[in-house]
Amino acid sequence: MTELATLADLERDLIARIEAAADEAALEDARVSALGKKGVVTERLKSLGGMSDAERRTLGPAINGLKQAVGEAIEARKATLKAAALTERLARETVDVTLPVRPGPLAEGRIHPVSQVMDELTAIFADLGFAIAEGPDIETDYYNFTALNFPVGHPAREMHDTFFFEPKADGSRLLLRTHTSPVQIRTMEKGELPIRVICPGRTYRCDSDQTHTPMFHQVEGLVVDESATLGELKWVLEEFCKAFFEVKRVDMRFRPSFFPFTEPSMEVDIRCRRMGNEVRFGEGDDWLEILGCGMVHPNVLRNGGFDPDKVQGYAWGMGIDRIAMLKYGMSDLRAFFDADVRWLNHYGFRPLDIPTLFGGLSA
Ligand code: DAH
Repeated sequence: MTELATLADLERDLIARIEAAADEAALEDARVSALGKKGVVTERLKSLGGMSDAERRTLGPAINGLKQAVGEAIEARKATLKAAALTERLARETVDVTLPVRPGPLAEGRIHPVSQVMDELTAIFADLGFAIAEGPDIETDYYNFTALNFPVGHPAREMHDTFFFEPKADGSRLLLRTHTSPVQIRTMEKGELPIRVICPGRTYRCDSDQTHTPMFHQVEGLVVDESATLGELKWVLEEFCKAFFEVKRVDMRFRPSFFPFTEPSMEVDIRCRRMGNEVRFGEGDDWLEILGCGMVHPNVLRNGGFDPDKVQGYAWGMGIDRIAMLKYGMSDLRAFFDADVRWLNHYGFRPLDIPTLFGGLSA
């Protein structure tokens, strides 16, 4: 067989293989074995260099023609495979546009009212220059009681319905914090002045009825510096209540009270009008108790590492669930923790409606 006939056979074989390539990988294999560095066509092209002029004159155009024919066959097959792949994908990915739209988490999910109120509190107090401080849910007797000036054996300890853990070998018992006040001590222990913090978090007491659950939420406020006064405390609380309840004015009543960690101590009521489950603030003849507060007791400042002759402070503590119920008109606290989707759909908030003072707290 002449070399020209061999080349014609080779071309037929190569093109048959190319046209039979079932996918891109098979086509690439065919290309490499023909036109790759060591491919049969490439080898033939290299052989041109060692030929006599006469041989080259006849075989040169034949070999180059072979290269071109193979190249064109590859391109053509590539286009065919691509078109087939597209057709197959279009068939597979058909969308039934008549199906109803499935709502995503942004439309369906809800922010729990407790989380919402925590975000609202944070926005308001951050605007007043407060930072957030946190402490552990599992506390020692020292932080929850002793450091807060509850003497050992004092009846105020009993009023807290504390959940205790099993006693340790040395007789000490850990407990679930009964209030957020231990965070006051933990914050003071850092030793930096001035202190201007709020401490939102979970708290626990062995109690359950329409307005009490064994786990609930409080927010503590603490200011310590050289000039903290009762007047400032009243102003901070009034600004907070106006912003939180979204009213232009509030009337507040400061009643003398007792807490071991403050002296003097007060309970604060705000004026309201009750209409069924709804409560309107800044009007009416009812008074609702919303928080406890006072000037930080000298013993507590001392336990926190400060000299009560040099600095003073004020503090308050408030039930978050309670103010959420008041603001948003829920009547049973237990429903907060039932994880009932119907309740959440009704009372929950949309995820992207983030409370801000400029955009509206609960708008
Ligand atoms: N810890 C108190 C409670 O749970 C609330 C409280 C009252 C906190 C007065 C304070 C405060 O910081 O000054 O009943």
